Amino acid sequence: MKYRKLCDEKVSILGFGAMRLPTKGDKTSEINIKQTEIMFDHALANGINYIDTAYPYHGGESENVVGNYLTRRHIRDDIFLASKLPSWLIKEKKDFDKYFNEQLDKLKTDHIDFYLLHSLNENTWQKIKGLGVLDWCEKKQAEGKIKHLGFSFHDQYPIFKKIIDSYDKWGFCQIQFNYMDIDFQAGQKGLEYAHKKGLDIIVMEPIRGGQLAKEPPLEIKKIWNQFPIKRSYADGALQWIWNRKDVSIVLSGMSELRHVKENIESANRSKVGSLKAEESDLYLQIRKIFLKRAPINCTSCKYCEPCPQGVAISSCLNFYMMSEIYDDKKRASMFYHFLKEEYRADKCIQCGECEPKCPQKIPIMRSLENTHKLLAKKL
Ligand SMILES: NC(=O)c1ccc[n+]([C@@H]2O[C@H](COP(=O)([O-])OP(=O)(O)OC[C@H]3O[C@@H](n4cnc5c(N)ncnc54)[C@H](OP(=O)(O)O)[C@@H]3O)[C@@H](O)[C@H]2O)c1
Repeated sequence: MKYRKLCDEKVSILGFGAMRLPTKGDKTSEINIKQTEIMFDHALANGINYIDTAYPYHGGESENVVGNYLTRRHIRDDIFLASKLPSWLIKEKKDFDKYFNEQLDKLKTDHIDFYLLHSLNENTWQKIKGLGVLDWCEKKQAEGKIKHLGFSFHDQYPIFKKIIDSYDKWGFCQIQFNYMDIDFQAGQKGLEYAHKKGLDIIVMEPIRGGQLAKEPPLEIKKIWNQFPIKRSYADGALQWIWNRKDVSIVLSGMSELRHVKENIESANRSKVGSLKAEESDLYLQIRKIFLKRAPINCTSCKYCEPCPQGVAISSCLNFYMMSEIYDDKKRASMFYHFLKEEYRADKCIQCGECEPKCPQKIPIMRSLENTHKLLAKKL
């Protein structure tokens, strides 16, 4: 295994994301504990020393499973444990302690090495900042219950920048980043800004939750197969990130032992600056081909929002694009169903207020109709 510095700790460049652990079947999120422990054993025996979990993963079970595993194996002190404050559940100040203490109980530990304010966006950030989350975190740090503080993020770059600029003691941030998402959410601009401001970077969704490891469209398959350097699709996506020196750790949510083995081998082969220019160009070409498949060109700027009916326009359009670009209706419809019913595309009454505001001139009303037609059925 190779290691890099994260807040001055020596972490494996591949971290284990405990959000996609093997389950007891396709239709349940209930964790297959035996299989998970085999995968953890293999990961740790091969040098992985970082596990990332969170309050909601696997319906709240992930923290428990990780905590039980570390306790049973007596290895809590050998592992950097990351978990996250469920920012969207916080209603009042005392909720900080309520969730944190519950997490310590589930994780069977007295401290969390890397604690993140989970999935910050404009609303959650304003809310928890107003409730004094930073003072609360600093108190926990002084008590030794939180070692390093950071946040994870899924909103737009200007908000990312605002969060970074509003506090000068962040240790790190966790962002979605892969060769498709260069301009999406925080994106490459955000990564470089955070790094410049002294935050260390954790990358999540390096394989875009599995979408970049699937059999791609024929046009991509052709150029991939003709390329002289032979890799698996997953390996390519991971190497593209490890090539950068400003990323401390890449988290992958491995859900089979085969993923753990393959990704550890990838990590061992990786090196900063090792991708040749031709290979970097290959990923740009693939990206272009994927993006050409998008039925619309929504950049999530959200100029169209707020919708008077409350439709989460930009989220809906993104799930529509995801379904078409990656031919992955199942995952897109899963995300669509995470949206509360009142925010879904079928709540559009075609008032048309959104369309003149769209810089990309997207036929939003028609696209929302298509979104619902495509994704309303849960797969
Ligand atoms: N803080 C946040 O808001 C947030 C959000 C997202 C993620 N995260 C964290 O970041 C971690 C990483 O994100 P992610 O899980 O989306 O990572 P990812 O590596 O992009 O996606 C994991 C998926 O990729 C596929 N995969 C992984 N290795 C593979 C291989 N060698 N060959 C083929 N397929 C492979 C599997 O998909 P299949 O099972 O479909 O084959 C696996 O479930 C998460 O587990 C979680 O801990 C945090």
